[in-house]
Amino acid sequence: MDKNVVMSGMRPTGRLHIGNMMGALTNWVKLQNEYDCFFVVVDWHALTTEYKNTQDIKENIRQMVIDWISVGLDPEKCNIFVQSQVKQHAELHLLLSMITPLSWLERCPTYKEQLKQLETREINTYGFLGYPVLMATDILIYKANKVPVGKDQEAHVELCREIARRFNYLYEPVFPEPEALYTEFMVLPGIDGRKMSKSYDNYIEISASPDVIREKVKMMITDPARIRKNDPGHPDVCNVFAFHTVFNEPAKVQELKEACQKGQIGCVECKKNLADLMVARMEPIHQKRKMLEQNPKIIDEILNTGAKNARVVAEKTLEEVRDAMKM
Ligand code: ADP
Ligand code: NA
Repeated sequence: MDKNVVMSGMRPTGRLHIGNMMGALTNWVKLQNEYDCFFVVVDWHALTTEYKNTQDIKENIRQMVIDWISVGLDPEKCNIFVQSQVKQHAELHLLLSMITPLSWLERCPTYKEQLKQLETREINTYGFLGYPVLMATDILIYKANKVPVGKDQEAHVELCREIARRFNYLYEPVFPEPEALYTEFMVLPGIDGRKMSKSYDNYIEISASPDVIREKVKMMITDPARIRKNDPGHPDVCNVFAFHTVFNEPAKVQELKEACQKGQIGCVECKKNLADLMVARMEPIHQKRKMLEQNPKIIDEILNTGAKNARVVAEKTLEEVRDAMKM
């Protein structure tokens, strides 16, 4: 039997941060060994929220792929490509849009959320409403069975299953119904304690230099009840401690927890340890980044080969779709 197929994508709307790395990319790196994976830079999706200022998309795509490879995605083990280079997505999106009831889209939480914000934001397009159909297309065109996503994408994966079911019922069974694959990783906080996100100015980019990492760690919010160095600390509410649980060894985390609670280690020292760990962890990633930035042809080739391979799979699915629809 064929290996299970995994599809996941990211929008090239800015630089990736270490929340994206810990919460998504590290998982992708594992999945590439177990599954037939399609990792897609979904540039058309970027237009659903930002269609006026498009001048950064090309550079965002390049930087995103550099991040992906630097963190450990291996083009020998998975397909890496850009959505708009596989035009079959556009045809399947159009066909699926014909069978998707408007009411299914209107009840999507992201759309409802958007409607609420309508007075303050300008997005109210056909493309934005249809975003979940495009996402369903990206998944179904590779007949993916597993879709690694964050919990916030749950409704979209469910909608994808409904679209697949509807197609299979109306015509012929072409599409498997994909399942969401949730990562076990917690949400990484940003330097202000809220979820690290590119929407807030609280993130540390994957490409951040050691100096920037140290600077950002210094700015992290710690236990507000702790004023003097020897005050007993409360690791559970400390942002720096949360980062230690991610970047430090479990035994060291336990030691640190006790030392903090007993007031034996101050926040300044604790932050310095964390910064050292993070700088060391990012070092090999930065090395790889630098090499890829100096050799732009490598990324071009990865994306060309990835698109070529993806087109073959996508076209095969479309042939079945056209047959089933008698088109
Ligand atoms: P952002 O919130 O910065 O816009 P996205 O929504 O584009 O990030 O997320 C891309 C991927 O990275 C998703 O799989 C998401 O679950 C993951 N991710 C984003 N932020 C975090 C975080 N702070 N902690 C863990 N995973 C995250
Ligand atoms: Na693989």
